[in-house]
Amino acid sequence: MDKSFKSILIAGLVTVFMGSCANSQNVCSYQLDAKKFDTVINKKPVHLFTMKNNNGMEVSITNFGGRIVQIIIPDKNGNKQDVVLGYDNIQQYYDIEKYGGSDFGAAIGRYANRINKGQITIGGKQIQLPQNNFGHCLHGGPNGWQYAIYDGKKENDSTITMSIVSPDGDANFPGKVEAKVTYTLTSTNALDIQYEATTDAETVINMTNHSYFNLNGDPTKNIENCILYVNADCMTPVNRTFMTTGEIVKMAEDDPFNFLKPKAVGKDINADNEQLKFGMGYDHNWCLNTYKDGVGNDKEIAASLWSPITGIRLDVYTNEPGIQVYTGNFLDGTAKGKKGIIYNRRAAICLETQKYPDTPNKPDWPTANLKPGETYKSHCVFAFSVSKGL
Ligand code: BGC
Repeated sequence: MDKSFKSILIAGLVTVFMGSCANSQNVCSYQLDAKKFDTVINKKPVHLFTMKNNNGMEVSITNFGGRIVQIIIPDKNGNKQDVVLGYDNIQQYYDIEKYGGSDFGAAIGRYANRINKGQITIGGKQIQLPQNNFGHCLHGGPNGWQYAIYDGKKENDSTITMSIVSPDGDANFPGKVEAKVTYTLTSTNALDIQYEATTDAETVINMTNHSYFNLNGDPTKNIENCILYVNADCMTPVNRTFMTTGEIVKMAEDDPFNFLKPKAVGKDINADNEQLKFGMGYDHNWCLNTYKDGVGNDKEIAASLWSPITGIRLDVYTNEPGIQVYTGNFLDGTAKGKKGIIYNRRAAICLETQKYPDTPNKPDWPTANLKPGETYKSHCVFAFSVSKGL
């Protein structure tokens, strides 16, 4: 081949390739190596499980903590973007001492969010749970299910299940609990997550998924440009220790926490507002309008997020009464994630469907109690699409 023709051809191919990659961190040429997740922890096998559909969506989950490691979605130009934070190997998830703990993508249990001073009373008995966050119990304590090995199974091309048996007294929670998380990838680019649990003695359960979303597909930059909608008139304020005060506050139209009219995450995030100062940004529970008279409507949108860069949109549906919106305020550049990207403050946002925080100590709020013979059922759908806005 003529040399100059060859170099023009190569230059052309490079241009086409670069053109199809919207940003330098594009995932076009990036594949997770499943072998880097194959290991044995506490005598249990750990793997990476992947589902793909015919619309270009791909979801990879490890049974270490039932964690979503990667979600790939085609953007407005058809380029594939990875929209969640995480690591590309099991060591970084597991070796907390070396890499720092993280909840990236995890199936949190037994109790997502905070329990005041780690104290609950069940059947008249006061129980002290681990206190791992400002004196409170956060996400089930330091050994929550996000650090446990689930039994992972790829049921079929579009379903992965993660099951766990948590013994009576696990982190001091009473009752032997058997829980199962079912992840289903639909043909319409939704990731449907069903949680189910049973117990042999009265206990509390509140599970959630802790994915850190960056719909820009570029975690080198923060998500303050993303547009957020939260279908909630009220939120639950916190004190200086991130513990809910027990109040339910209705938000005025100009309240920085009011996202009924979609606005950029960063629009008011630095406003002179006590709650934003206490939370170091958004790290609060919103009381969803989709939950009425004890029933959650998982057909109506609970929250939406949209990236003006990629056009990728995420709609969240749930039967739960609350959603914790956490803008990654504690990410501090310590975690070096997939592709060696350092995760700085607000590199992502979590949309955690759940009960209101500390419900075991708030008898008037939708209960998290589970008794023998009952089945805990929680539903969360992360539906992805491409749109021109919210
Ligand atoms: C909490 C944050 C916490 C984070 C850790 C969120 O659900 O609200 O305060 O830092 O989880 O994963």
